[in-house]
This record gives sequence, structure tokens and C-alpha cells, in this order.
Amino acid sequence: MTDNTATNWLDHSFRHASPEQLANCLQDARNYTLALFECFLAAGLDAPDKVPVLEIINPPLWELGHIAWFAEWFVLREAQSSHPAAAQRPSLLTKGDDWFDSNTVPHDARWTLDLPRAGALKTYCHEVLDRVLDKLSREAIDDQSLYPYRLVLAHEDMHGEAFAYTLQTLNLAAPEPLANHRTPSWAQGEIRFPGGTLQLGSPPGDGVVFDNEKWAHATYVPTFTIDSTLVSNAQFAEFVADGGYQRAQFWSVAGRTWLMQQERSAPRYWQRDGQRWNVARFGRLAVLPQHEPVRHISLFEAQAYCMWAGRRLPTEAEWDWAATSGHAAFRWGDLWEWTASPFEPYPGFSADAYREYSAPWFGSHQVLRGASFATQSRMRASHYRNFYLPRRDDMFVGFRTCTL
Ligand SMILES: [Fe+2]
Repeated sequence: MTDNTATNWLDHSFRHASPEQLANCLQDARNYTLALFECFLAAGLDAPDKVPVLEIINPPLWELGHIAWFAEWFVLREAQSSHPAAAQRPSLLTKGDDWFDSNTVPHDARWTLDLPRAGALKTYCHEVLDRVLDKLSREAIDDQSLYPYRLVLAHEDMHGEAFAYTLQTLNLAAPEPLANHRTPSWAQGEIRFPGGTLQLGSPPGDGVVFDNEKWAHATYVPTFTIDSTLVSNAQFAEFVADGGYQRAQFWSVAGRTWLMQQERSAPRYWQRDGQRWNVARFGRLAVLPQHEPVRHISLFEAQAYCMWAGRRLPTEAEWDWAATSGHAAFRWGDLWEWTASPFEPYPGFSADAYREYSAPWFGSHQVLRGASFATQSRMRASHYRNFYLPRRDDMFVGFRTCTL
């Protein structure tokens, strides 16, 4: 992950992966999932009733089963969509659909299901992956035939990153290289882009395209000046020291409401120690690294910082322009980045087989661009649209700013 130019990553993108690459990547993704799952087991969280009920996590045991169930659904059961009646054959687990269908099992219910034990679920995972790889070895080599495998890989990689968030949320130890990840300190500066018309979104016929990227369309971007790097801890600490969290004029109405519920006076995971800040990361307390990007920031905090600094967040189109420009100084890929753009469909949107991937979240969520240090390289793409509720700050997320 040292070279973050999009062109390099595209060579290994899951979107165009060959059967051989898919087989390797599916195994790699599973190894990672299981390695992180072991961290939860080591902490004694081997059953949902031992895990705190939080809106932002799933019980790890449920999530592990859900990952395998999803692979079974789209590959082995040959479901044409996520509709509950779409599977062509039953699950290997009699109650698989009752337990692991994220569309029909409400979030809070995932803590009270009578799930198999960890050992039995790992056996299920193993059995599903074996059968997926066997089926893949006999699959036709074209985009349509490989679509379910690529989708399943992307899904497991997304949950793999969510497992990493969950370790941080629960303040648990993480394996290397997550635990001691250090973000490089890039030279700070600004880049002025002349603006013009860009193609936002993905064109048809480009391997896997997520529904929210459909379709590429001309978008005009006026001249803008954007930070070359993310806002650092040192910069954000100035905002904190200047009473940023206490001065209502910097906060939106929604941001103030959120702030009152949180009773927060610094970013999540910052802890004051005399004159300095410490930060909690994966179960350990460390001195806040001044020059690293500020991490675990809600949209509200990013917006308040911008108000205080006399700056603004980039729009999705501006971010896209900067990232695809190939400008050597524009660094991305260390943390997800909040944009100023609400998550909305592009013109021509229609949902794909995984019908609930985007559509339920339009309007309420905000677009994030980039990738984080916990994002697999095969998932990284400058046109990838991530999306979260504005209040979320548990992901590996930061932000950069533009001049007004
Ligand atoms: Fe899922």
C-alpha cells in the first residue's frame, strides 16, 4: 500500500479478476476474515450475548456466518437477486436464511438468535468456500459468469474492513499490520485545479460496476483549490484548543444535536493527559501522532472544523477530479474521506442483484471517497463511492478541505 496511484490498483482490481485471481483472492479474504475473527474469540466474544448491542457493529459470530451465507446465496444457490425467494436451492444450514439474511433479520435481533457455536460456523464457512472454489474452477470465463464470485469477494472484503472497525470500537487488540499502522506524513499543501467537465461514474462493460456508480455522466466542476493531504491531528488539535467543540457557531443544527447527545469535547478516542493528547487504538493508549491525519471524525466534526478554519469540504465531483488527475502531490488511500455530497443516485441508476446495496441509503447517507489503510488493494478505486450516516465516526475516516 505504498503506491496509491489508482492505475496500479486497477491491475489487481476484483472488478476484472480472472478465475485464478478470484480463487486466490477469495482464499486470501477468508484467511483475513478468520484471522480477525480469532481476535474476537481471544477476547471471549464467542457468542452474541457477550457482545455489546451497538448500532455500529454486528456480533462477530453473526457476521462470520453472514459472510459465508452471502457466498452460498449468490454462488452456490444461484440466486438472481437478494429477494428472499430468489435462491434456487436450500442453504447447507437448515436455518441459514432465518439467521443470516441481512434483509430479513433486523439488526438488534442478531444478538438473540440461537446461532451455532463458533466451531460449527467455521466448518460451515469452510464447506461453503470449498464448494465455491470448486464451482469457480468449472465456470465459464466471462463477466456475467464471474459476476457472483466478484460480488462475493467484494462483500467479504467490506465485512473484513468492518471487522477491523469493530476491533477498534470494542478496544480490542488487532493483528499486524493493523495494530501498528502508521500513516505516512505527506508534505502538506494545496493544489489548484482548473476545472472543466469530467465523467462521474462508471461506464457500462467495465467488469463489475456497483449500482451507485451507474452510469458515467458529464459533470461540470468549476475551478477549485484542494488540500493535497488530509487534515492532521495537529491541525485538528488547534480547533479543539480554540474551543471548537464549545462554540455553537461552527456547528450545523444537526451537528449541535449530535454533539449534545455525545457530550464530546474532542474526537472519539482522544484522551487528555495534562498538556498532551493520547489516543486509544486497538486496545492500547499511545501519544497522539501529531502529523498523522485526524481519524474517527463524524461529518459534523469535519464540517465544524471547516467553519472554524474558513474552509469547506470538497464535493464528490471535485474529489473525483483531483484523484483521477494523476497529480503527484494528491495523496489518498490512508483514510476514507468525507465529501460535501449527500449520497444520491446518479442519472440512470437501477439496483442490481444485491438490491439493497445502495437504494435504501440514498438521501440519509453522505458520500465518502478514497479508501483506508484497512481497505484491500483489490477494492481500491478512485471512483468507488462509500457512504455512511453523518454521525458515524467508527470507520477509519478523516477529511481534507478546499478553499472557499
Ligand atoms: Fe453483508
